[in-house]
Amino acid sequence: MTCSQGVPLQERQMVDRNLSVAIVGAGLMGHGIGQVFARAGHRVVLTDPAPDVLARAIPRVEQNLRAEGVDPAGVTCNMAAEPDLRSAVANVDLVIEAAPEKLALKHRIFTEVAAAAPSHAILASNTSVIPITRIGEPLDAGARGRLVGTHWWNPPHLIPLVEVVRSEHTRMDVFEQTFAWLAAVGKAPVKVHRDVAGFIGNRLQHALWREAIALVADGVCDAEAIDTVVKNSFGLRMPVLGPMENADLVGLELTRDVHRVLFPELHDEKTHSPLLDRLIAQGHAGMRAGQGLRQWTPAAAEGVSRRLATHLIRMLKTDAEGG
Ligand SMILES: NC(=O)c1ccc[n+]([C@@H]2O[C@H](COP(=O)([O-])OP(=O)(O)OC[C@H]3O[C@@H](n4cnc5c(N)ncnc54)[C@H](O)[C@@H]3O)[C@@H](O)[C@H]2O)c1
Repeated sequence: MTCSQGVPLQERQMVDRNLSVAIVGAGLMGHGIGQVFARAGHRVVLTDPAPDVLARAIPRVEQNLRAEGVDPAGVTCNMAAEPDLRSAVANVDLVIEAAPEKLALKHRIFTEVAAAAPSHAILASNTSVIPITRIGEPLDAGARGRLVGTHWWNPPHLIPLVEVVRSEHTRMDVFEQTFAWLAAVGKAPVKVHRDVAGFIGNRLQHALWREAIALVADGVCDAEAIDTVVKNSFGLRMPVLGPMENADLVGLELTRDVHRVLFPELHDEKTHSPLLDRLIAQGHAGMRAGQGLRQWTPAAAEGVSRRLATHLIRMLKTDAEGG
């Protein structure tokens, strides 16, 4: 098996050569993000201060690839694990930080990365919700200009979307180049022109969760009913019909009429639901605890991740085959 040699020519766009990429934080997101670049033929160095996480990162990539029926050897030959952060970023074109969601930690990491990475390197954070402008606070103007948000979705090797976020200081060429690299490795990037909390996807997703949790808290239905409704109605349409397409499909007059009746009734609280506080205080913190909004046996919880991966792989294969 030869090592994967990079993206096909017609997709190269602004990728004029194979890249060297460092992933800082090789946990759940980091190992999968590294996999995407390595599979496209780019050189990837993973770094993580936790020796067990770092040791498991490339085996996790192998496992992901086998689940897709891909021989891992041609991909992992592009990957290396390096415990020292400074060495990992010393010779790269792109650094993607996927460390825990703590601002002080991200400040420390980017201060170190900016000092050790080449001056041309693009610096990206995979933060879920922290504004990129805040992450860049301790950096000098040059490094701030090279800092951009790349918000991947879990599992990053299977979910196509990456939100590319421009901070108040991100240079336009850095923004465009990051977008082009992500498109060239097969992702579906979107441009987020303003550094708003939650970017696009999490704002949409959590607007839905706020209403769903409130309906359960109000006794309108149970949590299972919420999942049944979504999975058997608009959730089925969403892979082929986004909400803007859907609004145009039903027509904007109907959309306006629905909003006139519904918007005054929808929940618009500015804080999280007290139901979450109550469940957490009772130890019902979610799947890992055996109970959250719903009840979970270990087998049921394990089944969810497996079903999700199988579903995504099948959908992506169908898409690739033009089905
Ligand atoms: N989990 C998700 O679904 C998801 C989705 C999108 C974005 N994110 C974001 O991605 C980031 C990582 O999340 P995750 O779920 O992969 O977390 P994770 O805990 O699985 O991985 C984080 C890794 O960072 C390592 N780390 C800690 N300190 C470090 C340091 N100083 N330098 C380098 N690495 C360090 C940890 O050892 C750990 O292995 C967070 O900002 C998170 O908000 C997560």
